[in-house]
Amino acid sequence: MTRKRILSGMRPTGKLHLGHLHGALGNWVELQESGKYDCFYFVADWHAITSEYSSTECIKDNTISMVIDWLSVGLDPQKSTIFVQSAIKEHAELFLLLSMITPLAWLTRNPTYKEMQAELTSKDLSTFGFLGYPVLQAADIIMYKAYGVPVGVDQLPHVELTREIARRFNFLYKEIFPIPEPLLTSVPKLLGVDGRKMSKSYDNSICISDRGKELQQKVASMFTDPQRMRKSDPGNPEICNVFTLHGLYSPSEKVKQIDGDCRKAGIGCTDCKKMLARNVAEAMVPVHERMDYYANHLAEIDVIIEEGNAKATKIARQTMDEVRATVKI
Ligand code: TRP
Ligand code: SF4
Repeated sequence: MTRKRILSGMRPTGKLHLGHLHGALGNWVELQESGKYDCFYFVADWHAITSEYSSTECIKDNTISMVIDWLSVGLDPQKSTIFVQSAIKEHAELFLLLSMITPLAWLTRNPTYKEMQAELTSKDLSTFGFLGYPVLQAADIIMYKAYGVPVGVDQLPHVELTREIARRFNFLYKEIFPIPEPLLTSVPKLLGVDGRKMSKSYDNSICISDRGKELQQKVASMFTDPQRMRKSDPGNPEICNVFTLHGLYSPSEKVKQIDGDCRKAGIGCTDCKKMLARNVAEAMVPVHERMDYYANHLAEIDVIIEEGNAKATKIARQTMDEVRATVKI
């Protein structure tokens, strides 16, 4: 029996953080472990250039370190296909063909496009490539005839556009592409140490690679319940980001106890954070072991990527043969 294929990607923007781990990435590992799907996960390095075109020197290093992060948290190249977008040139060809049939209005009204342009004011994002970002993403997805795309909510508009582009292709030429489903997971909202959304660009993240003193200091600096000024004030764990993390890293009886103690001012935030830092550190021991292993065996990363690229290429070639025949080109 052939398993349904799922596919997802991430831009190589640097070290991954706990927001990634408990969001999309954790879902990737779960889908892999369910054994139900044929999983394809790739580094969207061409997508990284859409916003980083003036400083591309980090993209290669970030690609390797991101794959190391993936493997460290449990992606397994024996079970999942791990590849790099720029190695599969077919993505560029499909992108080109899809760009011919994608109405401009679909791209200019895309909410992500508008938001990113408004947010990243330090970069000139009024480029053709940036506008076409979702078209390249559509090519990534339908190239593998993916049934499902595990992503965070922020990517929903892109998956929706992919569905529209795939439908349009099927309508104009012939029905060769399945319409992919977004696979969302409900994830607890993790905030950064400063109480804003955990994000690399805010420099407020707890990274998957953080350990020892650095991890302790980051946890110690976390915002807590803003209404709890003194240790004698009762706290509200439900609005405290430290408590959210306890929910993910501490045993459930402990979490219950902290909840009660916090509400009656029986525990101070400093102690509560120390406990959290210990539990995160402990949970991360196997992750960091794998990370250290790969840092010392970088040649293995190259092999994993090459093997993944070869598997992806095989499918991409088949799809493109079919696409060319369908478009009659
Ligand atoms: N846009 C995605 C992100 O920023 C990355 C991405 C590129 C992607 N191509 C994809 C995700 C295809 C899922 C499927 O994270
Ligand atoms: Fe948050 Fe813990 Fe402080 Fe309560 S005691 S406010 S849960 S850090």
